[in-house]
Amino acid sequence: MIQLQNRRILVGISGGIAAYKTPQLVRLLRQAGADVIVVMTANAARFVTATTLQAVSGRPVRNDLWDPAAEAQMGHIELARWAELVLIAPATADRLARIAGGLADDLLGAVCLATRAPIAVAPAMNQVMWEAAPTRRNLATLVADGIAVIGPESGDQACGEVGPGRMTEPESLLEAVVGLFEVPPGLSELRAVTTPPGGSLSGRHVVITAGPTREAIDPVRYISNHSSGKQGYAIAAAAIAAGARVTLISGPVSEPVPAGAALIPVESARDMHAACLEAAGDCDLFIAVAAVADYRPKTAADRKIKKSDAGDVGLHLDLVENPDIVASVAALPRRPIVVGFAAETHDAMKHARAKLTRKGLDAIIVNDVSRTDIGFGSDSNAVTLIWAEGELTLEKQSKASLASEIIDRLAALFVRQLAHTNPENVAH
Ligand code: CTP
Repeated sequence: MIQLQNRRILVGISGGIAAYKTPQLVRLLRQAGADVIVVMTANAARFVTATTLQAVSGRPVRNDLWDPAAEAQMGHIELARWAELVLIAPATADRLARIAGGLADDLLGAVCLATRAPIAVAPAMNQVMWEAAPTRRNLATLVADGIAVIGPESGDQACGEVGPGRMTEPESLLEAVVGLFEVPPGLSELRAVTTPPGGSLSGRHVVITAGPTREAIDPVRYISNHSSGKQGYAIAAAAIAAGARVTLISGPVSEPVPAGAALIPVESARDMHAACLEAAGDCDLFIAVAAVADYRPKTAADRKIKKSDAGDVGLHLDLVENPDIVASVAALPRRPIVVGFAAETHDAMKHARAKLTRKGLDAIIVNDVSRTDIGFGSDSNAVTLIWAEGELTLEKQSKASLASEIIDRLAALFVRQLAHTNPENVAH
């Protein structure tokens, strides 16, 4: 079966004895229909020859960042762009450390740093090296960066020891690669094999807007809406449970503030706008759950409007549009991942997709508020998560469990981008 037809896979080989198995892996990938370019490190060439790999891949092998002829043909940045998957097999302890540290002093390092494609590594090393604290730390970093770790297997090692550290066999690696491509579009970010220690949003700063806004008519009256803040507060609690530092920018609600959230209370849309722009500066993920009033009275009277003020023509309010908060955050030059909510009564998916584009969002969560059993004020909700390449319906459940599912899905969907948003936000 041609499971990888025309898939562009860059196979990286680092310098370990398991490199002798990589020509077989390349053959299997090619037989499955993939187009393969091999990038070898200098030490890999001590274990396997470029000639062998050129023969099995059917393409020139790349091994030097400084080879002017090769760079002129397809430079390292083009190589990084070309790849739909970067698969490093074997990945030595040293290579894992280099990728975790973002080192780009050789061709394979530069490609890993310059690619937007998913990266998978098949570690291979002595079992003591595999269990060593630095390797553990590096693996945690790689997983947090969304890199798939395939294997290693346990068994006899080339060094004579028995234990974990054998590279996964080429046949199983092929299966794993097919699996990586089978994940639905956009959900390819779900490839991380384990959650980083401390939770899926560990060390990330998440800013959440919640509740309604109040738009003053005079000192005692305002325009507002039915938002209870329940969903936004539940999302804040779920983000804290996932390890995030949370700033909750909320209109007036009676919900208790989740333990650990930094609350910024606001009243009007303009207050919320200002607070959000300030908080967005060091934010990784911005989730706009607030039901922001689209319009406000053009002027708020500074004294209570008296019935007698209306006269014969009745009382008229001039309304002007409020700033679009989520769109303003999405338009920032150094922007976080931005997720909006859409409360819709009809043509929900069509309107939500239009909002996703119009507001420049990374994802939008659609709420069908025409259903009386869910939504405003209710304790349960059902939503659809929409992003550029896909959508996912999250069935009716309590707002608390839905919030956890939303946070899990967003963390998985954007794991790679989140890893690169604001590195200074990572907890020390
Ligand atoms: N939103 C915002 N600022 C506004 C209006 C909305 O940040 N001034 C955010 C909401 O928090 C939500 C998303 O935009 O995440 C969509 O809100 P919604 O009220 O559904 O969209 P509108 O732009 O108001 O569109 P419409 O009223 O036409 O449905």
